[in-house]
Amino acid sequence: MGSVYLDNGATSYPKAPGVAEAISDFITNVGCNIGRGDYQKAYDAAGRVLEVREKLNTLVHGPGPRNVIFTAGATAGLNQLLKGLLRSGDKVLTSPMEHNAVLRPLEQLKRQGVAVELLPCTDQGELVLGGLEDKLAGARAVMLCHGSNVSGGLLPIEKIGPLCRERGVFFLVDGAQTLGAVPVDMEEMGIDALAFPGHKGLLGPQGIGGLVVTDALAAELEPLISGGTGSQSQSLDMPAFLPDRFEAGTLNLPGIFGLGAALDYLEGEGEALQVRERKLAGHLWARLMELEEDGLRVLGPRDPSRRTGVVSVDFLHADNAEMAFRLEQEYGIQTRCGLHCAPLAHQTLGTYPQGAVRFSVGPFNTFEQIDYAQGAVYELLLKS
Ligand SMILES: Cc1ncc(COP(=O)(O)O)c(C=O)c1O
Repeated sequence: MGSVYLDNGATSYPKAPGVAEAISDFITNVGCNIGRGDYQKAYDAAGRVLEVREKLNTLVHGPGPRNVIFTAGATAGLNQLLKGLLRSGDKVLTSPMEHNAVLRPLEQLKRQGVAVELLPCTDQGELVLGGLEDKLAGARAVMLCHGSNVSGGLLPIEKIGPLCRERGVFFLVDGAQTLGAVPVDMEEMGIDALAFPGHKGLLGPQGIGGLVVTDALAAELEPLISGGTGSQSQSLDMPAFLPDRFEAGTLNLPGIFGLGAALDYLEGEGEALQVRERKLAGHLWARLMELEEDGLRVLGPRDPSRRTGVVSVDFLHADNAEMAFRLEQEYGIQTRCGLHCAPLAHQTLGTYPQGAVRFSVGPFNTFEQIDYAQGAVYELLLKS
């Protein structure tokens, strides 16, 4: 069957049609900066950047296009958020299902006197909501991923956001595994800040991502990086207004133009693309679940409506790293094995320290590829 890419949880491949062309066109025919040059080409490029902010804001039902801040990716956005908001004496609630993009900044903040409390999860990585209301007392923020990059489970952010809002606790969401693939509505879900990469579910290039923040949160956030913005240059302080306050230095314009093309594509396809991806995700999960009697453990929630396109498995009688290697060598199937930058998630799911083999679909996979991968896993189980 040739090579089968099932590592969309790491980054989408292929990218949306038009992304490569938009990047190439920017570099070949535009090439200038925005917010600095006094010529038409720079104004036109600035207009396109604003359009991309508008598209992102609409996608997540955010507070406005100027509340969309471009960053190098989800990691950069999460660092800005956590380190810009939390101070000594603050308490933040989070979960063991988080990526190191959250856990490592929080570990640094612990050393500066921030109290970090982990909310309990079941051994399928589902958040236990009982007792949450008491824990929210005195918290400055709750930081959660929308979708786990290990269990494939969706966390109940739609329930937690409104609770946070009632109590004046900031609700910060890592949308790395969901944006573009699963609907996110900042207003309805009570989200104060959403971090996202452009290169996963949004089908854009690597190196571009962002943060969408409410005005209330932005007012409390200290910029992590300061420098030139092309605005209010007489002041040695960062501008107070968005997005400039959090966008020092030259923006990744090739990345923004590429992401813009991906968003055009997503808009053109509408809900159908998300529906297709959900069907593929459900098929992958159901097919791998069939192998549970043959020595495979499928991690994460048992309810397919609470899952994304990520399905991680543990080969009970074989070495997971060897199985991932053989999937590639013998069948051309590309997966990711190990701890997936989420050690506490693996501890929760019972796959630490050996890790698991992660399959992850995107909208350009096919049902045939999934059936082929399932057949390959079955053959390996028989041989092990
Ligand atoms: C849940 C989650 N959060 C954050 C990140 C970090 O994203 P990026 O590497 O694009 O900064 C990832 C990437 O794998 C992720 O899966």
